[in-house]
Amino acid sequence: MKIKSALFDLSAPDLESCPKSPLPEFAFIGRSNVGKSSLINMLCERKDLAKVSVTPGKTKLINFFLINGTWMLVDLPGYGYAHVGRKDRDQFNKAVADYLEHRTNIIRVFVLIDSRLPPQKIDLEFISWLGNCSVAFALIFTKTDKLSAAQVSANIELFKQSMADEWEDLPEIFTCSSKTKHGRTDILNYVTRTLAETNRI
Ligand code: GTP
Ligand code: MG
Repeated sequence: MKIKSALFDLSAPDLESCPKSPLPEFAFIGRSNVGKSSLINMLCERKDLAKVSVTPGKTKLINFFLINGTWMLVDLPGYGYAHVGRKDRDQFNKAVADYLEHRTNIIRVFVLIDSRLPPQKIDLEFISWLGNCSVAFALIFTKTDKLSAAQVSANIELFKQSMADEWEDLPEIFTCSSKTKHGRTDILNYVTRTLAETNRI
């Protein structure tokens, strides 16, 4: 897929404020600082479409971007960031939970995992929770420029083993680096394929 246009649509503080449009949505979620906003910019080949920060907790609202006028890319606030005030945190978590549980536009959720780390409890718990939301998801291991291909594979293998305890079928798995653009073609091809499948139903 060629990204011909990528336009910021709106930022929603809660489910009710999400766009009224019926367009299919691909949402990006993962631990704070895992690289969600950077990946969105890399996919769209736009430097500042989604706000990136070295400080975790940068993305605080549900941000919608209209791609090629036909689908929405959704940048979600990260989970596992404890340094915002408790009231704020609960608010964000509730907005994200409501969105994932009730938004019927979602056709795929991409769960981003830091490829540098062994399986993290917080990611496994989130995936477990997502499994009950009846939304389809895929995994993307981020920041692969930071370690060797062998180390990335080893961490993915460990993650798959951890998931196998609970899941019969494992999700589709991608790797990416927003620095080198590794993974861009594979992820966009997957989006194209998923959109085509959805349109046939
Ligand atoms: P929140 O919105 O705070 O939850 O974070 P996020 O998941 O959107 O992460 P963001 O894209 O803001 O990136 C966090 C930090 O990681 C920034 O300093 C990025 O420059 C860095 N980063 C993101 N992706 C990559 C990558 O592929 N490679 C490397 N080396 N650094 C990355
Ligand atoms: Mg972000």
